[in-house]
Amino acid sequence: MACRRGALIVLEGVDRAGKTTQCQKLVQTLRMSGKSAEMIRFPDRSTEIGEVINAYLDKKSDLEDHTVHLLFSANRWEKVPYIRRRLEQGVTLIVDRYAFSGVAFTSAKPGFSLEWCKNSDIGLPKPDLVFFLQLDPFSAAQRGEFGAERYETSDFQTAVQQRFDHLLLDASINWKVIDASQSIEDLHSQIRSYSEDVMELVARQPIGELWK
Ligand code: ADP
Ligand code: TYD
Repeated sequence: MACRRGALIVLEGVDRAGKTTQCQKLVQTLRMSGKSAEMIRFPDRSTEIGEVINAYLDKKSDLEDHTVHLLFSANRWEKVPYIRRRLEQGVTLIVDRYAFSGVAFTSAKPGFSLEWCKNSDIGLPKPDLVFFLQLDPFSAAQRGEFGAERYETSDFQTAVQQRFDHLLLDASINWKVIDASQSIEDLHSQIRSYSEDVMELVARQPIGELWK
């Protein structure tokens, strides 16, 4: 009998919705209950491509918009062998942002269609579950000021939210929209429960291909 694989679980959402907080808590809880789980995040700023992206986000360099989109995508593709290996080893991966951020952020720029933006991520390992942490701009603002990184302005974030709204209509993705204004603990217990269910469900299923 084939081994059980891990699940690929992504957290997406607007800035300060609590993605990183929830990813960390989920990994911790899953591990405490004896399951193999690990967190990864995109962009992965530790690779050579990630360093280029980091300099761009820090506004230390400027890049043409198509080029930076393709770099964010390449930063996911370079991680695919690792993702596949870990899933096949039975490790559940909890991912802080994935291709949905890639599409939402670039397509919020003038002149970019959702379809063009999706192209370079077609065929990536398909997430078994994608949480979308939904938070209105007022509540997000109460969680702190914007930082100095590129994209951290309220106008741009509003445009990004609109692009996410389109992506949420994509029935090929197993979305779970969660009200992120709840307490950290309440959010965590829902996210944990959905995650454990999906881990059980997909353990003997093949890894899918995104948008194929
Ligand atoms: P993201 O990764 O989505 O940008 P973070 O997890 O970094 O969000 O959280 C952003 C800020 O909001 C942090 O200061 C965090 O402590 C706080 N925070 C996270 N979740 C909640 C919550 N459910 N309620 C109130 N504050 C939260
Ligand atoms: P991240 O490291 O998650 O930063 P933060 O914790 O501050 O949200 O993401 C960095 C920025 O990169 C964020 O503004 C979203 C953006 N981004 C893209 O534009 N394209 C992508 O493909 C990804 C993954 C992120």
